[in-house]
Amino acid sequence: MSAATARAEAALTDLQPRPDDILADAIAGLSRSPKQLPSKYFYDDRGSQLFEAITRQPEYYLTRTELALLEARMPAIARAVGSGAHVVEFGSGSGRKTELLLEGLDAPVAYTPIEISRSMLLHSVARLAPLFPAIEMLPVCADFTRPVPLPVAARSARRTLVFFPGSTLGNFAHGDAVRLLASMRRTMGADGRALVGIDLDKDPARIEAAYNDRAGVTAAFTLNLLARLNREIGSDFDLGGFHHRAVYVPARMRIETTLVSDRAQTVHVGGHAFDFAAGEAMLVEYSCKYSDAAFAALAGEAGLAVDERWNDADDLFGLRLLRPA
Ligand code: AVJ
Repeated sequence: MSAATARAEAALTDLQPRPDDILADAIAGLSRSPKQLPSKYFYDDRGSQLFEAITRQPEYYLTRTELALLEARMPAIARAVGSGAHVVEFGSGSGRKTELLLEGLDAPVAYTPIEISRSMLLHSVARLAPLFPAIEMLPVCADFTRPVPLPVAARSARRTLVFFPGSTLGNFAHGDAVRLLASMRRTMGADGRALVGIDLDKDPARIEAAYNDRAGVTAAFTLNLLARLNREIGSDFDLGGFHHRAVYVPARMRIETTLVSDRAQTVHVGGHAFDFAAGEAMLVEYSCKYSDAAFAALAGEAGLAVDERWNDADDLFGLRLLRPA
């Protein structure tokens, strides 16, 4: 362990939940009609690497648009947030975005990433701590979909700023998204703010291209889920027998990513047999897109109001500053 990682561990609040029951989740999803697998299992080591590679594909506009937007709007964001904030990120420091925020804010006092993977959490804090010696690092290992008690900063913060970039909110079904936003509202307190990144509704062709990149990186990312299940729960998915397909469904304002069975086949998982028809599509992820009105309504359901909004010049991606309504 490096000295930096050891220091990060010293400040760690460890509320790590017991490991997910991947086998039970897989069996439950495969027993539904249509069949489903939970997208949260994409992110093993290989899956995290493939996601990083996705963010560099020319068609995947989300990450680079959000980064440029954050950089361009940072002065306005810093004015709106004010000085002395305690920044609480839902998910571990998403690299460059966290750096831009911590660099651009006016004298933030503390930074608390909340992340379920302890190794990702400690790695990210060990990287950030030397870059921001004036900011107290207070990592929390926990499931951010559950209420998390916030560590108290040594210097008192003027307000809490929750940071939730990347349109990760889009992976949550409506009710879960409302619960997550409501839990951010509790975390931020009466005078807090949240800065949330959202992918905006747009031309379906543009969205579909982002999730069906020509180099096939997203397809490899999706299929890696089956490789992970085979390795970790002993299932026998034939990785050559399924292909990736992502389709935008305008009525639900979301892209639905599926793995389609190339032929009739049977897959065995934990003593259960699941029959796939030729052409049968199994849902593995959806990523919701938002109109201004739809996002404001969603935030409203969680007791939050949109304080300020920033989009890039082409209205591809948005940042929203939320406050308790
Ligand atoms: C990290 C959840 C925001 O939905 O755009 C990228 C994941 N999946 N390509 C997204 C993802 C396929 C990504 N999020």
